Amino acid sequence: MKINKFGFEFEEYASMAELSDSDSELLGHAIQAVENAYAPYSHFHVGAALRLGNGKVIKGNNQENIAYPSGLCAERVAFFHASSNYPDVAIEAIAITAKAQNFEINEPVTPCGSCRQVMSETETRQPGDIRVIMMGQSGKIFVVKSVGSLLPLMFKAEGLKK
Ligand code: THU
Repeated sequence: MKINKFGFEFEEYASMAELSDSDSELLGHAIQAVENAYAPYSHFHVGAALRLGNGKVIKGNNQENIAYPSGLCAERVAFFHASSNYPDVAIEAIAITAKAQNFEINEPVTPCGSCRQVMSETETRQPGDIRVIMMGQSGKIFVVKSVGSLLPLMFKAEGLKK
């Protein structure tokens, strides 16, 4: 038996003012995307913005439903939109943020496990890594250079072929 260890690096920024212009601009789109979230059940409004290789920005937000599991997170709304409309264009980066009705989110919003799986598979289907920029309403901002680092030992298609 041997023990293996996994670790990953992430950048931390004190505020949007510290970010590069392109990261800050993409977060600006994610902030706008929050406004169209449909979240009458959780009151947690999430916005995501993708920067594609062709320069386009795709926005998504969480879309809830009274049949709770029928809803979808902001990240997957944006990723599935990109994949269905621009199947051959790489996703370079995603910015994620959120606004809550009843409290201030002062920690970065980090994607759920299902979104990490979808984003990671997209990354394996394209040549480049997907940068992830995560912010709350206030406080620090986290950035990872590759979504793969958020999902070690992910389930891959090879698992089905055996
Ligand atoms: N949600 C997202 O859209 N993205 C995340 O990264 C975390 C959670 C949504 C799902 C649900 O509509 C609400 O936030 C509360 O979980």
